[in-house]
Amino acid sequence: MSAVIVVGSQWGDEGKGKVIDFFSAQADFVVRYQGGANAGHTIVVDGKKTVLHLVPSGILHPKTKCIIANGVVLDVNSFAEEVRALKLTGYLKDSTQLMVSDAVSVILPYHRQLDQAREKALGADKIGTTGRGIGPAYEERAGRKAILFGDIFDDERLKEKLQSTLQEKNFLLEKFYGEKPIEIDEIIRNIKVLREELKPFRTADTSLVIHQALKAGKKVLFEGAQGTLLDLFHGTYPFVTSSSTIAGSACIGSGVGPCEIDKVIGITKAYATRVGEGPFPTELFNQTGDLLQHKGNEFGATTGRKRRCGWLDLVALRYAIRINGITHLAMMKLDVLSGMDEVGVCVAYELNGEVIREMPTSYALLSKVKPVIKMLSGWTDELEKITDIKDLPMNSRRYMDFINAETGLPIDMISVGPGREQTLWAKPLFS
Ligand code: IMP
Repeated sequence: MSAVIVVGSQWGDEGKGKVIDFFSAQADFVVRYQGGANAGHTIVVDGKKTVLHLVPSGILHPKTKCIIANGVVLDVNSFAEEVRALKLTGYLKDSTQLMVSDAVSVILPYHRQLDQAREKALGADKIGTTGRGIGPAYEERAGRKAILFGDIFDDERLKEKLQSTLQEKNFLLEKFYGEKPIEIDEIIRNIKVLREELKPFRTADTSLVIHQALKAGKKVLFEGAQGTLLDLFHGTYPFVTSSSTIAGSACIGSGVGPCEIDKVIGITKAYATRVGEGPFPTELFNQTGDLLQHKGNEFGATTGRKRRCGWLDLVALRYAIRINGITHLAMMKLDVLSGMDEVGVCVAYELNGEVIREMPTSYALLSKVKPVIKMLSGWTDELEKITDIKDLPMNSRRYMDFINAETGLPIDMISVGPGREQTLWAKPLFS
């Protein structure tokens, strides 16, 4: 048992960074395989907070090697900044701890410019993207025009590819969005400044590194970014991100066969949140929603936007379990629910007068559903200091038993606070 995928089962921000950091102590490698600097993975160690956008969350464990694999879109400026910040705080002392695949697509300032111009032009119909250039970068990859990480170290190839792609981009920016065109020389100058800093992480074939590690019995964690319902193919389309965020994407993005995977850990918060636009059936527009937002400190780690909050949605969780093949559930932020008389949980939807238990895949239908909420008794005790699952208040255990009965999966990990030590895990991970 040596390959484990960690995925978000909601709309992102479930606490994947904390889970990866926790398990990284047991892992030899942590691999990021999709998404980009739209992610914001927060880790708190001894009260000190680190927010990672691109570097895998295993980096805080010096013996754990971290890989950014082919499926990621890497903003070179954000990446360089993150590396500098990590080094300043005493991490990443050895550059060989971090590897970036030569085949990763690079995000340059024009991707952000296009992302933001498009959102502006959409007005009220906007997606609510993070503005980090994710959509334009994946479009470029699919259009076979992407600048790859390896390209930035080859002057001639870089210039040739930039010239070809910028012709189109500038046409769009100037003629369609009425924005300023991009100067190729400025982009090349920017890359040349960063190149020496980025070079130590350059790795020709990260898939081979992972393959050899697995063959040698090393323990590999695959770190998902965003969440199931933001998946490009299976999420609440079109209000999704531009990559596939589900477990299968770990194989595609990192170049590992599906039979190598042993476990899939699905992360869910004890309630639900969403940033950006799009359907959110259990959203609360009342004081309880505000309470979850305040107590859970629900602000986006990347954009600082307020997260929309609501009750846990078991229709969506069952869907996530199915399409990811989740084998273990981890529940984060259970402590946020303490002090409520009652805690709600959505067990089904009502659609056109009918009760349904499966998630409609069309946006038009999902926008119309009404949640069927079951209220369970709450608990008053604060959970922050609890160190054993057995010591959790009875009603919080009933809440988890209810989720277990509704989803068919037990909750094997519970988080009761932001700190690394506030994590209760019932089983060995790699066994
Ligand atoms: P994009 O990924 O920036 O294109 O944004 C598309 C949608 O995904 C927007 O609703 C964003 O708010 C959402 N999104 C992207 N990354 C994250 C994340 O890491 N956490 C939560 N939401 C995200």
